[in-house]
Amino acid sequence: MSTSSQHSAESVSAEPATTAAQSQLGLTPKRRGTDRADSFWAAVGGEPTFRKIVSRFYELVATDDLLRPMYPEEDLGPAEDRLRTFLEQYWGGPTTYQEQRGHPRLRMRHAPYRVTPKARDRWLAHMRVAVREAQLAPIHENQLWDYLERAAHFMINAHDDDGTEGGER
Ligand code: HEM
Repeated sequence: MSTSSQHSAESVSAEPATTAAQSQLGLTPKRRGTDRADSFWAAVGGEPTFRKIVSRFYELVATDDLLRPMYPEEDLGPAEDRLRTFLEQYWGGPTTYQEQRGHPRLRMRHAPYRVTPKARDRWLAHMRVAVREAQLAPIHENQLWDYLERAAHFMINAHDDDGTEGGER
């Protein structure tokens, strides 16, 4: 009876293949998916999934003798919120991070800390456990993991103690 038109102004869900590495790693406020409902964020379960991963990650950081002292605050809760909201935003969820913290500029924000290869390896080791425990579909886990590995590598700004350059002292 009706001649319903099902035009949806459905916009792109595919992204241009690649942009600059920095943009890929979230140094620009680019988001995965133009529509939140269509995003990686939604596909993996939205906020609860990111909460689960990041809170487990910080539980492990709290026990880490190299990483824990790097976090200036007594309470890791605020750091947890920053990482979670950043990741949610990056993967197409709410833009809370940007509203609260502005442009990500992640490498710059890590400049005060000695992110050595060893620190990166610890960071990734804890993140690996946290991501695995979230039991995402393999395709999503791989996608997330690939991003985290690359981002962590990109954050290195100092050599380990036996190195000769980088970082302050
Ligand atoms: C490679 C090893 C890494 C180390 C040792 C490290 C360490 C730190 C430390 C000590 C802080 C300050 C705590 C705070 O105030 O939030 C921080 C902040 C942060 N890190 Fe990392 N981080 C690493 C990698 C990453 C990666 C790979 C990402 C993202 C994928 C990330 C995202 C963030 C975010 C979003 C903040 C808060 C920035 C802000 O708004 O101030 N970090 N990180």
